[in-house]
Amino acid sequence: MPQKVRTAVFPVGGLGTRFLPATKAMPKEMLPVVDKPLIQYAVEEARAAGIERFIFVTGRGKAAIEDHFDFSFELDAMLQARDKLDGLQIVREMMMPPGSISYVRQQEPMGLGHAVWCAKALVGDEPFAVLLPDDLVQSNTPCLKQLLEVYEETGGNVVAVMDVPREHTQRYGILDVESDDGRLASVKGLVEKPKPEVAPSTLSIIGRYVLLPQVMDFLAEKVVGAGGEIQLTDAMARTIGAHPFHGLRFEGKRFDCGDKVGFMEANVAFALARPDLGADMRSALLPYFT
Ligand code: UTP
Repeated sequence: MPQKVRTAVFPVGGLGTRFLPATKAMPKEMLPVVDKPLIQYAVEEARAAGIERFIFVTGRGKAAIEDHFDFSFELDAMLQARDKLDGLQIVREMMMPPGSISYVRQQEPMGLGHAVWCAKALVGDEPFAVLLPDDLVQSNTPCLKQLLEVYEETGGNVVAVMDVPREHTQRYGILDVESDDGRLASVKGLVEKPKPEVAPSTLSIIGRYVLLPQVMDFLAEKVVGAGGEIQLTDAMARTIGAHPFHGLRFEGKRFDCGDKVGFMEANVAFALARPDLGADMRSALLPYFT
């Protein structure tokens, strides 16, 4: 039985330049989809998958994330005094168990691999999950839970993957597949952002990972990869051979909320799926398409 995964790392140290000016003074991860910040979706997904320890790798200008998960005495008192019980329930239910969240600073945004490495001391010698909050997944079973179910069977590293058009391979980490049953692919290699003509497949990694602690040893070497950044994909690739590595075609739809169109699409999709908003949203959108 593989060791239980108790810890999740949330890299939130990126600059979010594609969302300027919105992200000038506000972290990208605080952008709301309908009425909830992206980071809260990611944290809720991890909680629903049984995660108990939450590590945020932050950077300058990210204080709003810490405040968001803190108790707000004034707000709580005001909502109570004004009898705003729905709001009160929302802010109370999102409170995390005391001591379950830790923050570590990535002093410079040197890449996703570097952000994950910054959490090394807090993660310790245990398997851990990584969730990128700008990848939002709408699914029946939380995406991370799907990965952990596979991990319990296979052990090793497990990442969420999806098929993308070949012309998009340069945006993702791509699998070199050894065998594939249509749901689970066994992986013999990984390439970060390959050109379409040299990509070994079109199976792309999205922002959900279950990783063994050994990946930290390779990240510690701080090898610079694609785009001049320290890439998580490169370090994961070096663990292959020593440990099993699988890619799971997860059930659900992924929205790239780091991209403007993906973010707006997520807002529409999540609003349409909400029992309290779906019908009104549908009527509001209809005139644009008739
Ligand atoms: P992105 O590639 O989307 O970069 O990072 P970004 O800086 O956040 O956004 P743009 O491209 O400038 O608009 C993917 C994920 O990795 C994290 C980001 O916070 C995001 O969750 N990241 C990236 C870090 O934590 N540190 C880094 O050095 C780079």
